[in-house]
Amino acid sequence: MKGIVLAGGHGTRLVPLTQVVCKQLLPVYDKPMICYPLSILMLGGIRQICIISTPRDLPIIRGFLGDGGSLGVEFTYVEQPRPEGIAQAFLLAEEFIGGDPVTLILGDNVFYGDFFQGEDGFARAVRDFERGGLIFGYYLGDPRDFGVLEFDAAGLAVGIEEKPLEPKSNYAVPGLYAYDAGVVEVVRGLQPSARGELEITDVNRTYLERGDLRVDRLGRGIAWLDTGTPGSLQAASSFVEAIEMRQGLKIACLEEIAFDQGFVDRAGFEALIAGFPSPPSECDYREYLEMVLAQKDAAPGGQRSALTQDRAAASSPRSRL
Ligand code: DAU
Repeated sequence: MKGIVLAGGHGTRLVPLTQVVCKQLLPVYDKPMICYPLSILMLGGIRQICIISTPRDLPIIRGFLGDGGSLGVEFTYVEQPRPEGIAQAFLLAEEFIGGDPVTLILGDNVFYGDFFQGEDGFARAVRDFERGGLIFGYYLGDPRDFGVLEFDAAGLAVGIEEKPLEPKSNYAVPGLYAYDAGVVEVVRGLQPSARGELEITDVNRTYLERGDLRVDRLGRGIAWLDTGTPGSLQAASSFVEAIEMRQGLKIACLEEIAFDQGFVDRAGFEALIAGFPSPPSECDYREYLEMVLAQKDAAPGGQRSALTQDRAAASSPRSRL
């Protein structure tokens, strides 16, 4: 499975912030937004990742993330000259996709929860993926700003609409999708919508009508947050702050995930740590990575257990704030 992070667009609702830098590099609490969707792909075990953004922003993103080698992953960068739809990502990344299945995540979607940790949730969905499409349904009080699912009496998905005025269910479709390599041909067969975009909802409808779309409902224990407006960006930051302060563990710390996933070994992780400012400079992020390393060393077999994570929380600089 390969991965795509779509990180372009105008970010109109975040002007003037997005006149300086693209939305996906704006901070969500303590790190740039793009770390969150990237972390989801990495937690899913995906190591070949294509990042798509605007000609203005792509060099800045590349400057931040590099080629991914130090994280044990491989980043490929592709420009989207104009925002002509989410589904256009598959045309732009055609060469990157080759004949492989691909997961697309939107660069402004923040996910958090057990489903994205360990081997049984998202990672298994990625591992077991064979063909067709896989999307998720997430209950929202008001789903009208999103793709919205329709279910029959047996609970099977039978329809999907983009931003319906009268939604047929409360289940919105988050910006996390997996498809087989046939998705490129599906997109080629689409016409732009009334707003002039190749719609991801039309891709999903095509797979659904072929009987080739799996729809998994995400439970209430999962957070899916939007970051498209100043208010929702602030809310996402507050959410991350609350969890990180409480647990003393970071969400979407790419270096930690690379280490936990075995993408980098101990020496590789130490090299990552060395890339951050060292004492006497105060750098919480480096201190955190050092704590991760110390905890790994302290745990039997190098695995951090729930217990050692608790200890980590107790000893974290954050928890003393
Ligand atoms: O967040 C999930 C929702 O994302 C889905 O439920 C909808 O079905 C889907 O259409 C999309 O809705 P949005 O209204 O949020 O899409 P938006 O146009 O805001 O684009 C989402 C992100 O993708 C945003 O960060 C910008 C980026 N983007 C978008 C387009 C259209 C691009 O990079 N290039 C594009 O051409």
